[in-house]
Amino acid sequence: MKKINLFEPYWTNEDLDAVTGVIKSGWWKEGPICEKLEEEFCAYTKTKYAVSVNSATVGLDLIFKAYGIKNGEVILPALTFVATGLIPLYNDCKVIFADIDEATLTIDPKDVVKKITSKTKAIIVQHQSGYPVDLDSFEQFKKKGILVIEDAAHGAGTFYKGEHVGTRNPSVFSFNVVKNIAACEGGMVTTDNKDMAEKMMTLRWFGIDQFAWKKEKKKHLWDYSISMVGYKYHFNDIFASLARVQLKRLNKTNKKRKELAQRYNDNFLNRSLPVRILLINSPDIISSRHQYIIRVDEKHRDSLINWLTDHKIISGVHYKPINLYPIFGGHGHTPVTDREWGKMVTLPLHPKMTFEDVDHVCEVIARYFKQN
Ligand SMILES: Cc1ncc(COP(=O)(O)O)c(C=O)c1O
Repeated sequence: MKKINLFEPYWTNEDLDAVTGVIKSGWWKEGPICEKLEEEFCAYTKTKYAVSVNSATVGLDLIFKAYGIKNGEVILPALTFVATGLIPLYNDCKVIFADIDEATLTIDPKDVVKKITSKTKAIIVQHQSGYPVDLDSFEQFKKKGILVIEDAAHGAGTFYKGEHVGTRNPSVFSFNVVKNIAACEGGMVTTDNKDMAEKMMTLRWFGIDQFAWKKEKKKHLWDYSISMVGYKYHFNDIFASLARVQLKRLNKTNKKRKELAQRYNDNFLNRSLPVRILLINSPDIISSRHQYIIRVDEKHRDSLINWLTDHKIISGVHYKPINLYPIFGGHGHTPVTDREWGKMVTLPLHPKMTFEDVDHVCEVIARYFKQN
């Protein structure tokens, strides 16, 4: 049996043609293709403004810089990728860890309530594996002047109560190589605030004020003004051309992910294995199915991962909670995360896989449990 990877980018000749077209055009840097991608991303998600950037990580930083989040406390889930937690540190904020909801593995708003203090400036919610956070429960914090930010790195094609995630709060999406829109690297910031969108567009390119430049109709491209400390966070037309093709086929590839996830569910239910799956029962929710996570008894977790590797099946853990890393200077009270992460295994899920691949993974897991 061939090796089954945890993630793999999906591409066709259309991706090759798109990249080749940009290379041949001679305009590789941020330009018309990035602009088209931003328009198409707005149209797909029904958000007002989209700002392309070279990663979701810098996109999050851009939100902090534009909205002035610094020198305060930022609440975020312990179960996330380290990028979510690093951005508050870049901005001299203290990270306060919130626990997760056991059923959905997303940040638990009830625990967030307990962690709010007078110093709380922002809450970052993360749509873990593409399962949308219960965004309605976070509206209460906005009334207190706290900024809610969505880390929608996993959320391309995730809908909550009929709206695409990343449309009601400043948000970031990731286009890195393992994501549902895989453009090698890249990301998109979304916001419904025109001033913030323009500020982020200025900040992402050294603070060069292109808006003033357009308004003043200056003759020379070199004659720009800089009034903010900016960054080199802008995107490029080569990667954007990939992102455009991948966005165009997102519904198709996400449909395939959904079918594969359903095949996993059917296998686990039919085989009655000691595996907990995350069921999506609510009509309010469409998951991008970025990842497929199962939970097993923690005594089996690492040996099951090794067993799968021995059978050429690559699995993972998303995530080792980031409050275990000393840089954050404190673990906080996150009992559900502490208990659940040791049970979690991420199984291969990507649109190139077949139902036979899924059946094979489940068969290998069944054999593991027969022997152990
Ligand atoms: C939850 C989460 N947030 C943020 C990021 C950062 O994304 P990027 O690699 O585009 O910077 C990732 C990347 O894997 C992620 O999984």
